[in-house]
Amino acid sequence: MSTAIINISSLVTNDPSLGEGPLGLIQDAAVVIDDDRIAWVGGTSKAPATDNAVDAGGRAALPGFVDSHSHLVFAGDRTAEFNARMSGQSYSAGGIRTTVAATRAATDEELEANLLRYLREGLRQGTTTLETKSGYGLTTRDEARALRIAAAHTEEVTYLGAHIVAPEFADDPAGYVELVTGGMLDACAPHARWVDVFCEKGAFDGDQARTILEAGRARGLTPRVHANQLGHGPGVQLAVELGAASADHCTHLTDADVDALAQGGTVATLLPGAEFSTRAQWPDARRLLDAGVTVALSTDCNPGSSFTSSVPFCIALAVRDMGMTPDEAVWSATAGGAAALRRSDIGRLAPGTRADLLLLDAPSHVHLAYRPGVPLVSAVWQRGVRAL
Ligand code: NIG
Ligand code: FE
Repeated sequence: MSTAIINISSLVTNDPSLGEGPLGLIQDAAVVIDDDRIAWVGGTSKAPATDNAVDAGGRAALPGFVDSHSHLVFAGDRTAEFNARMSGQSYSAGGIRTTVAATRAATDEELEANLLRYLREGLRQGTTTLETKSGYGLTTRDEARALRIAAAHTEEVTYLGAHIVAPEFADDPAGYVELVTGGMLDACAPHARWVDVFCEKGAFDGDQARTILEAGRARGLTPRVHANQLGHGPGVQLAVELGAASADHCTHLTDADVDALAQGGTVATLLPGAEFSTRAQWPDARRLLDAGVTVALSTDCNPGSSFTSSVPFCIALAVRDMGMTPDEAVWSATAGGAAALRRSDIGRLAPGTRADLLLLDAPSHVHLAYRPGVPLVSAVWQRGVRAL
């Protein structure tokens, strides 16, 4: 069954061979969907005949957002911590323990219902692919069940047993690293595609992070790293050295870190929701882009440091405060996210890619940054099915 979406005022394809500039923009465009794939894109006047037609009525269209970094298998709430921060306290990763306790105490059904709630929330704001992580269980049983629950709803699942040292191992961090690289990894690897480490003072140092990422890699998981979020450290360079798909946060970077990212194949994933919600300095997207680094933009949605599921909100922050142009921010939230997940079938609208796309109640994608906080996403197709 084929459907044509016609009269799109401005279409972002992210395929420079199909349209203008890096976004491959086509004006007065149409898209043809065949089952779960894009069959054709071009000018409305040239659109082939199809079974159905949807009139976009002059609205803009773009690929669905690829949110390549979130932490959605959790229970509980950290409003008190947020309130304290907004009264002047600074963020510390120690708050993760509050969510660990609540997550361990929750049933599978509660965790799944919570995950579905935030997946749905993201979808309403245009997210059609979402990566999510474990990391609030920190026991073999709780990490494995988090990944099982996540894997039932997304193909992009990350093992983050190394989020912080589990409270039971407070006096024996080496013992916890042994567990994360041993029995816990055995139980978790079958449910995940990626392995991640929070490489930061107060979490895991460079040597521990290397041990954990290499162990994951030996089990077929590809590394991605929480790197240089709260201060300078070895995370970014370790990510590049190990061929990680992505170094995430990248808020505190030396010139050597930027050079390493520019020369390596690791994407820098920026997560401005975290800086917003922790009142921290913004990551310098301009510096990374000017150095030639591939940049992704994602939400980091989690109850502690960044409780937003809104990619449009992150686009607006990145444009206002991180030196990105609207075009760059939209690219990073779509094609950039796909690059961070090493996917070529999403983040782009071209014949053969997955039919994940959005209509905006606006004449162009620039309005995502120009009209912050406004719910512009007015229709979503996911794998060719109208999801909103
Ligand atoms: O990406 N930095 C580590 N992990 C999360 C925060 C988790 C939390 O505070 O619960 C992050 O910001
Ligand atoms: Fe994170």
